[in-house]
Amino acid sequence: MCPVLRIVGGQPLEGELQVNGSKNAALPIIAATLLTDGEVRLKNVPDLVDVRVMLSLCRVSGMEFGYRGGDLIVRTGQIRECPTRPEAGSIRASILLAGPLLARCGHFQAPLPGGCSIGDRGIDFHIQALRMMGAQVAIGSDMIRVRTGGLHGAQVELPFPSVGATENIMMAATLAEGRTRILNAAREPEIVDLATFLNRMGAAVEGAGTSHIQIKGVEELKGAGHEVMPDRIEMGTLMAAGAITRGRLTLKRCPLNTDGEFFDKMAEMGIELSRRGSEIAVACEEHRPADIRTGPYPGFATDLQPIMAPLLSLADGESTIVEGVFDNRFNYVSELRKMGFRAEGDGRRQTIRGPTRLQGCNVVAPDIRGGASLIVAALGAEGVTNMASCQKVFRGYERIDQRLRSVGADIELMGEDDDLEG
Ligand code: EPZ
Repeated sequence: MCPVLRIVGGQPLEGELQVNGSKNAALPIIAATLLTDGEVRLKNVPDLVDVRVMLSLCRVSGMEFGYRGGDLIVRTGQIRECPTRPEAGSIRASILLAGPLLARCGHFQAPLPGGCSIGDRGIDFHIQALRMMGAQVAIGSDMIRVRTGGLHGAQVELPFPSVGATENIMMAATLAEGRTRILNAAREPEIVDLATFLNRMGAAVEGAGTSHIQIKGVEELKGAGHEVMPDRIEMGTLMAAGAITRGRLTLKRCPLNTDGEFFDKMAEMGIELSRRGSEIAVACEEHRPADIRTGPYPGFATDLQPIMAPLLSLADGESTIVEGVFDNRFNYVSELRKMGFRAEGDGRRQTIRGPTRLQGCNVVAPDIRGGASLIVAALGAEGVTNMASCQKVFRGYERIDQRLRSVGADIELMGEDDDLEG
């Protein structure tokens, strides 16, 4: 039986929740551990489907891993030069193995990366940069093969500040000969977290968090310890869940200094956030319309726009969401419409009309964040929502059903499935 997430809406969420480690920081950091034969100890790694897939891909390359006191312990003593497993096709982050594997053993071969269907997700920036650094790349209809006799530094100007390409180049450059410069680099907090980890291993990365990153290649990297940053997208999702139910949630272990435009928009939408260190209390008396435009950091995170849409539909008036990163990130709109959501537009822009009383019904999660959007909508809706394909949401949110239940949500996972596609 396929699993279904059953949510009865209308229960105010009250209490405390802890924000977990970031998926999008943990995935490149796990890939980066392949750069050393030393032992790496990682704290705060979320237990997610995508993380498990990444670990199983790394194991094929020779990584051994286990857990000690909740920390992930990783060592890749002897790297194995062999093709990555077919699961590489199920997650986008599999392309992040290219940089570390090329740097460590000069070879990377894998199925073309998959991931959420949120638009055209090319890997041309990655390929172009690796070529500039001395790699030979061959792409078939479903495979990519990359080889190098030795990487060297290069000056790479990205056409768009791609998160994954910035991470891949940074990792490849750590052991390359000479200096690499990344211009128009992505500035996301997850890039800073990866650079911090690389430097802890002995790399020489400067400028992470700005558009100009410099990496001086070193002879070798050593083992290190690192705590993965908290997940800012999970934080935003839990805030939206609290706000749509007009509950009172307190979120612990929120990331610091990673807000970008997000907090200003939340205030505009009537969501009151009071911050004390890494703890944030969330309250909402009135939903207000807003105009959101997503963009590379410090712009409003594209991963959070689907999650804000149900909140905007409750507000009295017209709101707009303009998507500035992907060309098909409104695939959740057709599912929300089944619940009464009113919006018009195209793949880049949607105009949302409110106020709407959302009604529970049967929906299907289109991807991680689209599924999270439907959960938020269902928590604020009247009646029962049954969400199919809910495993997609578990790719990015650890035990989300149990955690929301612990703060008063009427939510239950029915049935089982082991489908990893998304
Ligand atoms: C990362 O994806 C995240 N994934 C995404 O999170 C996030 O939405 C995205 O960054 C933007 O913030 C991980 O970190 C694992 P990009 P990534 O390269 O690196 C185009 C989630 O829900 N592009 O910054 O794949 C691309 O098509 C996920 O957690 C090229 O054209 O994103 C897109 O329009 C989904 N060619 C734009 O750049 C390339 O070679 C930004 O993509 C690379 C990217």
